[in-house]
Amino acid sequence: MSTIGWVTSAVSSNDLSARQEVLVVDFGAQYAQLIARRVRESNVYSRIVPHRITADEIAQARPAAIILSGGPKSVHVEGAPTLDPAIYELGIPILGICYGAQLIASQLGGVVGRGMRGEYGRAELTRTTDSDLLTGDLPESHDVWMSHFDAITQVPDGFVATASTPDAPVAVLESGSRQIWGVQFHPEVVHSPHGMTVLRRFLHDLASCEPEWKMSSVVDEQVSLIREQVGEARVICGLSGGVDSSVAAALVHRAIGSQLTCVYVDTGLMRKGESEQVVETFRRNMGIELIHVDAGQRFFDRLAGISEPEAKRKAIGELFIRIFEEHTGGLSEAKFLVQGTLYPDLIESGGVDGTAEVIKSHHNVGGLPEDMTLELVEPLRELFKDEVRALGTELGLPDEMVWRQPFPGPGLGVRIIGEVTPERVAVLQEADAIVREEIALAGLEREIWQAFAVLPDIRSVGVMGDERTYGHPIIIRAVTSDDAMTADWARLPYDLLEKMSQRIINEVPGINRVAYDITSKPPGTIEWE
Ligand code: XMP
Repeated sequence: MSTIGWVTSAVSSNDLSARQEVLVVDFGAQYAQLIARRVRESNVYSRIVPHRITADEIAQARPAAIILSGGPKSVHVEGAPTLDPAIYELGIPILGICYGAQLIASQLGGVVGRGMRGEYGRAELTRTTDSDLLTGDLPESHDVWMSHFDAITQVPDGFVATASTPDAPVAVLESGSRQIWGVQFHPEVVHSPHGMTVLRRFLHDLASCEPEWKMSSVVDEQVSLIREQVGEARVICGLSGGVDSSVAAALVHRAIGSQLTCVYVDTGLMRKGESEQVVETFRRNMGIELIHVDAGQRFFDRLAGISEPEAKRKAIGELFIRIFEEHTGGLSEAKFLVQGTLYPDLIESGGVDGTAEVIKSHHNVGGLPEDMTLELVEPLRELFKDEVRALGTELGLPDEMVWRQPFPGPGLGVRIIGEVTPERVAVLQEADAIVREEIALAGLEREIWQAFAVLPDIRSVGVMGDERTYGHPIIIRAVTSDDAMTADWARLPYDLLEKMSQRIINEVPGINRVAYDITSKPPGTIEWE
């Protein structure tokens, strides 16, 4: 699919809601995503587009404004990405950030100096003359977050430099008549304390975007889109208990009610109380038709004797798909399958470039059954994770589900080192429940990315009462992270660790020692398997 196809399809959904949107041109995915989120936090819908987008495509999409993102490159590097210069002539308000600002300067006739000192981290920004962008309550000088090597030294004709920092003579450039502005600093990061004021000034005042986008409008919009897509057909949704599939199911149910059937394959490898919660929430509270497949014994039979981690994952994945097929085979009139694909899934798989829209593997365990000819319904594909959580709350899902930590598809099967048996799963479930309970009691749930227990395949000698024990240890793993790509071990208070240790040893039979994993990622991974 070309970018044209992609832009056009987005325009049609745009027409439906007639909403204003801001296009964030992607010169570096991480920067672009954060900017897109900040725009949405300012109640304006935003969408990321590839930097190869043409002026014609932009004109067709009719955005209310364009933001050029930062990027890792220097404009002087060979092959550095540029923008179709005709885009500057469309009369659509443009804000360039960091690399985006340098691009404006270099493409419109200014000068970007090479080999300068650069600035990384905090810098003091000082307004040097009247500015359209730095107005309102902004102090004359304030801290901003910088990350650049080159710096703009001369603005293009028709622009004025309105602020500087010690190492960036042109930290802000503006042309009100051309409706183009640029900032060398990163207004989107929390370390630029006035960054959101600058972004909002651009969006709401300079580009006249109405702050109208909100979660409740997402619900209304998606409900009509889903109805339009599926008509009277039957729809299946595989639930995993995770946030994404739960919110997707709740949203689709809001749209089409009893046309939706959810299938929950209970592998017996879920955490304590989790399966009951899925059934309780979806069947009892929301009245969704739910097929609950209690397949624990089949998984244990299949896993007997297997201890190699990849072999375990493969065994769980294959059996999962077989069971899913067995239970959806009867729903022969079903035409659609709901997937909880999120916006970052599409961006990371190249979807924004329209090159490769990879289907997120079902339940994150295996792949979709190959011979399934179901069309996908992906109602979350425009949303970021935090927006999906807000939507879940809006749809009435309980906090435990909405704020659930990431959990591997193969479940506790990959947190047990060695053979997976029902007894070992029961031990791990108890210990894991204590870890999570204590984290919640300490009020740390939302600060910690994941906190869980691991059961390794070793035993050691201990003494309890007057008796020698020869039991297993439990390893506690708790990490902070933004995206699971990197993680740091959480500096949990000693008192909290002590409480967990005492409770696990007292309450979980067979455990005589507790260890805390103090490895970051890299070099470790988050999970143990
Ligand atoms: P690692 O252990 O590689 O994990 O640092 C990174 C993140 O991915 C989660 N994880 C999985 N998620 N299916 C999933 O949906 C899986 O098979 C799987 N394996 C690991 C892990 O919990 C962490 O958040």
